[in-house]
Amino acid sequence: VNDHAAASTRPERDYYRRVADYYDEEAAVFEQHYRNNAILQRIRIDFRDITERYPFDSALEIGCGPGIDLAYWAERFPQRTFLGIDVSPAMVQQARAKIAGLANVTASSGTLWSLSEQSSGRFDLIYCYFGALNTEPDLAATARLLASLLNANGTMVLTFVNRWYLFDIIWNLLRLRWRRAFARPLDTWRGYAPDRPLPSFCHSAREIQKAFHPYFELKKRKGYSIVFPAWYRQKFVSTDGRLGRCLWNIDGWINRTPFWNLGEYSLYVFSAKE
Ligand SMILES: C[S@@+](CC[C@H](N)C(=O)[O-])C[C@H]1O[C@@H](n2cnc3c(N)ncnc32)[C@H](O)[C@@H]1O
Repeated sequence: VNDHAAASTRPERDYYRRVADYYDEEAAVFEQHYRNNAILQRIRIDFRDITERYPFDSALEIGCGPGIDLAYWAERFPQRTFLGIDVSPAMVQQARAKIAGLANVTASSGTLWSLSEQSSGRFDLIYCYFGALNTEPDLAATARLLASLLNANGTMVLTFVNRWYLFDIIWNLLRLRWRRAFARPLDTWRGYAPDRPLPSFCHSAREIQKAFHPYFELKKRKGYSIVFPAWYRQKFVSTDGRLGRCLWNIDGWINRTPFWNLGEYSLYVFSAKE
């Protein structure tokens, strides 16, 4: 089926199976949770606005989930082609249902490593929204693989769950939850839902830039949910209210400082190095 997969070791394959099982279960409620979460919606709009600034004809989405962005982009740009991949077959099934009838988009089950050699240099946009790269065990190898998939003038818009989330550390310390406060930096952060653990990898900005630097030029970076609430604290603040807007604007201001990367998420735009 593919050459990249042959390089994938047994522990990695076992890990991907665990990730797939986790998201297969999550698929039943994922989209409904998203539709009820104004914070995730606000952040996604920003991811899309940034992505749309870059020209592309052929795009790859890593971790397409139930196809929310695949369907959005494919409808918005009928002349452009889109491929979504996702490790969870249940998510891919939902994505396929959502894009049925759109001729310019396909969704496929697997990881980046299951793309065939024919995909090399095929994409001029690769994007990843909301966390699929936090479940790639080897970031340096992933960066190398992405370099082989992107064409020479291509752009990548990649988002990551952060290693250092200052508000969360302070919040948990104040509530005397020491372990939780330092879970991410101590590599024990357990995934997207606290009640359903999934081991995953939170990288610092330095680690991400080190892994991508050999192949890519950093064009832009942006931090999210620094003082604006993280998606799992949506009950505390209304995103449309005055406070919500104010916190979003404060994040915009912090993004101009060295503390830009102390929020829940970060976004990086990379272009291929000449
Ligand atoms: C938090 S969901 C986000 C889904 C979608 N990007 C969105 O924004 O709605 C993460 C998705 O990435 C997929 N995923 C996680 N790790 C992956 C990996 N290593 N390769 C491919 N897909 C992965 C999961 O199955 C899940 O559907």
